[in-house]
Amino acid sequence: MGKRVLLFPLPYKGHINPMLEIAAILHSRGFSITIFHSTSYDPIDSTKYPLYRFILVEDGEISNRFISGLDDAVPRMMAWNNSCEQLFYNSLTSVLSDENEEPVACLIRDTHWYNLQHLANRLGVPTFVLRTGSAASLNWFMTFPQLVQKGRIPVQESQLNTPVIEIAPLQMRDLPLIGNRSYEVLPEFFMKGIDAIRASSGVIVNTFHAIDSIEVEKFQRAVPVPVFCIGPLHKFSPPSRSCLLDQDHSCLEWLDTQAVGSVLYVSFGSVAYMNYEDFMETAWGLANSVQPFIWVVRPGSILGRNKVDLPDGFVAVTSGRGKIVSWAPQKEVLAHASVGAFWTHNGWNSTLEAICEGVPMICWPHFGDQMGNARYVTHVWKVGIGLEGKLERGIIEKTIKRLMKEDEGVEIRERMRGMKHEASLCIKSDGSSSININKLINIISSF
Ligand code: UDX
Repeated sequence: MGKRVLLFPLPYKGHINPMLEIAAILHSRGFSITIFHSTSYDPIDSTKYPLYRFILVEDGEISNRFISGLDDAVPRMMAWNNSCEQLFYNSLTSVLSDENEEPVACLIRDTHWYNLQHLANRLGVPTFVLRTGSAASLNWFMTFPQLVQKGRIPVQESQLNTPVIEIAPLQMRDLPLIGNRSYEVLPEFFMKGIDAIRASSGVIVNTFHAIDSIEVEKFQRAVPVPVFCIGPLHKFSPPSRSCLLDQDHSCLEWLDTQAVGSVLYVSFGSVAYMNYEDFMETAWGLANSVQPFIWVVRPGSILGRNKVDLPDGFVAVTSGRGKIVSWAPQKEVLAHASVGAFWTHNGWNSTLEAICEGVPMICWPHFGDQMGNARYVTHVWKVGIGLEGKLERGIIEKTIKRLMKEDEGVEIRERMRGMKHEASLCIKSDGSSSININKLINIISSF
């Protein structure tokens, strides 16, 4: 009889997808997979994954207590954690005692499911933590409570550009805030997260050594647990299908008709949203840039609007060179030869996917780790240009031209080719991430 691995993703698409990618890797190495997932918030369509067993977690009551939107994101995650003992205990114990199923080797949980760690430890199940962001982001989480304690957060307007020497190269504006008042709850949230990592068997990070090893070493000096950098995860598993929304594949055919390197791909991930004024500026910035584009306008991504109200004249002006879709097959789009740049919110998955395909970025971060990711893109790796300040059509047009038409863009593209090469090395059979996957699997097999 083989062994079973239990997976607990956080019910957000940017967290579910990397967990599903781990599921695919483990399944291909002979492990059975059981996934515990939420029924109410960003649910997974389990019919798309017939090889795995799914256990529903009926958390509707908790999710319904919170409105959707950024300000409630951290309180919602904390409430999930507080209730998880009750919600998960019964299902976990019944899976562990089910004699018809393979014995459980270990559990892999999202970083933000910190209370699960203590539950699993009580039940004697070895538990790994999946950090779906960078290794650097773990150091940002660790430092944040200290900055609050020192009175440096909430950040004063005059301090926004001040470097945070504890977590260079970040500036105060890059700290991982989620919504306006999150500094009140984030210290507890992050501290509980880090304490639970200390109690785990190790951290699996969706990153690779060439871009994150210094941050891994820094983290391990403070939290001495094994760290397995096994990313970019999507390069080790077959293309995972979107959990929530159907991908519009017509944009790939459309890309076939465009010139090599000419198309700007615009997408701000699965959570970020903009107000209608920013939406209008974005539309006219794209139109005035005269550059072909694919723009993902997700349902719910324009504040207060249920449908996409494009400005008068926009469709006529961009006819033949603009395509709007509600959800794209992003990895395939970025890998297409016609795509020359990516205007992104710098969610970690999007950032990694751009690096893997060598697509330079225009960075417009919104919340959480995105500001720090963008800082790395623009100031450390120098493979993108930041879009700072108020969104305004003239600035958008100019930034697109800087990256796609001017000499500055040529140098950025050159550096991005180097990063793409590094990413391609780590996934080779003797590459760092492949070696770490093998190490991790050997450990899991030994339990
Ligand atoms: C969230 C946070 O925002 C992010 O900062 C954190 O690092 C992970 O969780 P999200 O906002 O969704 O994630 O951004 P991102 O991490 O970039 O993930 C989005 C995923 O959706 C990517 O894998 C991307 O390929 C996919 N996607 C996005 C699509 O498949 N189609 C689309 O049209 C847009």
